[in-house]
Amino acid sequence: MRVLVVGAGGLIGRALLRARAPAGVDVVGLTRQECDVTEVTAMERALGKHAPDATIFCAAFTDVDGAANDARSHAVNVEAPPAWAQATPTWFLSSNFVFDGSGPHVPGAVPRPGSVYGRQKVEAEAGVSAAGGHVVRVGWVFGPGGKTFASTVAARLREGDRVRAIYDVVVQPTHCDDVAAALLELPRGITHLAGGAQTSWYGFATAVRARVGAGTVEPVRMGDIGLGPRPRDARLSPATLPPWWARLPD
Ligand SMILES: NC(=O)c1ccc[n+]([C@@H]2O[C@H](COP(=O)([O-])OP(=O)(O)OC[C@H]3O[C@@H](n4cnc5c(N)ncnc54)[C@H](OP(=O)(O)O)[C@@H]3O)[C@@H](O)[C@H]2O)c1
Repeated sequence: MRVLVVGAGGLIGRALLRARAPAGVDVVGLTRQECDVTEVTAMERALGKHAPDATIFCAAFTDVDGAANDARSHAVNVEAPPAWAQATPTWFLSSNFVFDGSGPHVPGAVPRPGSVYGRQKVEAEAGVSAAGGHVVRVGWVFGPGGKTFASTVAARLREGDRVRAIYDVVVQPTHCDDVAAALLELPRGITHLAGGAQTSWYGFATAVRARVGAGTVEPVRMGDIGLGPRPRDARLSPATLPPWWARLPD
């Protein structure tokens, strides 16, 4: 069986390419440079060349605030996922930002996004599902191979910097390698992949500080740092992947 990963240059895409695939599964990845998912001819070329049995769609415009102001986000976040799902069996990476309000949210809960990015994901989910594709929601993923809050904080603390971290939003940090392993099982329908322990950005940064042994972490409220709309509680249920504290880098 062949699994194609598009958007393979990102955090989760790279984790998929280095993951130990189940027996009999070949994983091949295409970065944005190798296949722009918004171009129909690029999609047809990729599907013709690789003839995948499953495509894991990791491509996205992931700048949550930027998505609201950059028209390019619509093509990759909204239009492309259903187009791929119509052409090939597709597993679409979606986000816990489809929810707002009190969590944890189960897969069948009605989405209620509070941001443009969240609304884009809801629209794409609907198109993918209507085309017979599958939806995998994740949130607050960390690990090697991408620029995340975790990697930025670790780097700045090592430099001895003072880092501000939100304490009034609950998150479920989830390691990209655990997401990748679960994704390669190709779960059907709508699936939540979340780490089995929660904290705040501040709690996470404080744990990284303890590892790094340098720098300072300052607790701030979400409203203090000028972020665009974010859910206060976008926890996903079930949360069965390993807890974040078991996966902190040395
Ligand atoms: N990481 C998280 O915490 C998190 C949380 C919730 C949901 N998700 C979802 O999980 C999926 C993967 O996220 P990620 O963390 O791996 O994000 P990422 O590190 O930002 O990777 C996204 C990748 O998509 C590529 N891409 C953008 N536009 C493309 C296009 N038109 N054609 C082909 N590739 C394109 C990017 O290429 P360039 O680098 O060249 O731009 C990048 O390599 C996304 O759907 C995201 O919304 C992630």
